[in-house]
Amino acid sequence: MNRVYIKTYGCQMNERDSEAVASMLRGRGYSIVDSEVDADVVLLNTCSVRDQAEQKAIGKAGRLQRDKRRNKLQLLGVMGCMAQNRGRDLLASLPDLDLVVGTQKFHQVPDHLDNLLASLKGLGPRPSTIIDLEAEAGSQNTIRGHGAERKVTAFVSIMQGCNMKCAYCIVPKTRGEERARPMEDIVEEVRELAANGTKEITLLGQIVNHYGKREFPTVGGKSPFVQLLEKVHAVDGIERIRFTSPHPVGFRQDLVEAYRDLPKLCEYIHFPMQSGSDRILRAMRRPYSREKFLRIVEALRQANPAMYFSTDVIVGFPGETDEDFAQTVTLFDEVKFDMAFIFKYSVRSGTEAEEMGDTIAKEIKEARNQVLLERLEQWSTARNEALIGTVQEVLVEGPARKGEGMFMGKNRGNRKVLFPGNARQVGELVPVRIDRATTTVLLGESV
Ligand code: SAH
Ligand code: SF4
Ligand code: F3S
Repeated sequence: MNRVYIKTYGCQMNERDSEAVASMLRGRGYSIVDSEVDADVVLLNTCSVRDQAEQKAIGKAGRLQRDKRRNKLQLLGVMGCMAQNRGRDLLASLPDLDLVVGTQKFHQVPDHLDNLLASLKGLGPRPSTIIDLEAEAGSQNTIRGHGAERKVTAFVSIMQGCNMKCAYCIVPKTRGEERARPMEDIVEEVRELAANGTKEITLLGQIVNHYGKREFPTVGGKSPFVQLLEKVHAVDGIERIRFTSPHPVGFRQDLVEAYRDLPKLCEYIHFPMQSGSDRILRAMRRPYSREKFLRIVEALRQANPAMYFSTDVIVGFPGETDEDFAQTVTLFDEVKFDMAFIFKYSVRSGTEAEEMGDTIAKEIKEARNQVLLERLEQWSTARNEALIGTVQEVLVEGPARKGEGMFMGKNRGNRKVLFPGNARQVGELVPVRIDRATTTVLLGESV
């Protein structure tokens, strides 16, 4: 009765939280399995950022509830942002849920599962389904991994929550107030990861460059986030550093210079623009202009000409005209993004934008989405083709999903690289000469 399957929706924060819950459970003797078919317990770690994300998890939970009624499953739980945001409604529509855990109480999952399983065996009272959704004062929810599973790449949470007020966004509600984790804790976790063989870390926060703004002082012109980058950079064994996501507001010269001065900091940045129209940015309550966004991009390119850029864009925000959208397209083309996540606006209840309605027709959102996807394909293919003939440093993550003897890794620009390799190369930095490219992958031979 102790096989647990965790299915994760949403962003890297959720992936990291799922990993942390999995390793706590392993530490208690549970086994983590790769499929619900083999599981006694299924936990869905959910996302609320768009309606589609919620509907997917609700659909899944409904099907699993039926499995449970047919005794194919013992326990079913929902964790994460949707549990936090609407846990009580969920329980009303899915009465067979055994566990609802919000974003602040992941650390209680193992005890709760122990108690639930004991109660199924008649060895104790049944614990309540909803773990208190209120935040604890000072709660960090930065449970750490246990055990020594080796991960070539790892996510490290540096802060929780978000204090911005982007009009469309539910995250401040699901993740609460911004709180920074102490620098020394973060560095200690990175040291442990390095000791277990991790080579690449990605620092996670809703707005990483605001890390510790209130808690820690600026030293020598360097923000707490840049100080943290330097400390992590000094950890032996870590070869690559990435982070996600920075915000244009508070993106200062010290962070630009980090890309020049810290060789482990990969020349790849996920830098959400959301829109290229100043009017829409204002309505979204994103307090920067397209000019400011472009100035930061240019400064980064100056610090490191090989820089790769990725972004998030929302199309169809209420009131977005053809003219506004044209501004988004021109900004997109000026930056020539290598990667992008394009989202159709989705009304979230309880956000400021809710009362603006959903004024842009579905077909228009779809068409705008398509325009940007085509641009992305163009810029991404061009960037990949330009790499043909070069030798790329690839951090090998493991066997490729397809192709006998093929291995997969990423270059510093976060591009997927496939090449014929061997298991000894996993976790190593391998030089690969690129001889073919598609929009999304590079193919080559190790040299
Ligand atoms: N903290 C990050 C974003 C986290 S949410 C930042 O500010 O950059 C990830 C992305 O989801 C956002 O960048 C935005 O593009 C998209 N998103 C958020 N709310 C949305 C909504 N209501 N509709 C459509 N996309 C949304
Ligand atoms: Fe949401 Fe804005 Fe906070 Fe990002 S910065 S999580 S988009 S409120
Ligand atoms: Fe992430 Fe979705 Fe929550 S984007 S923070 S899992 S609402």
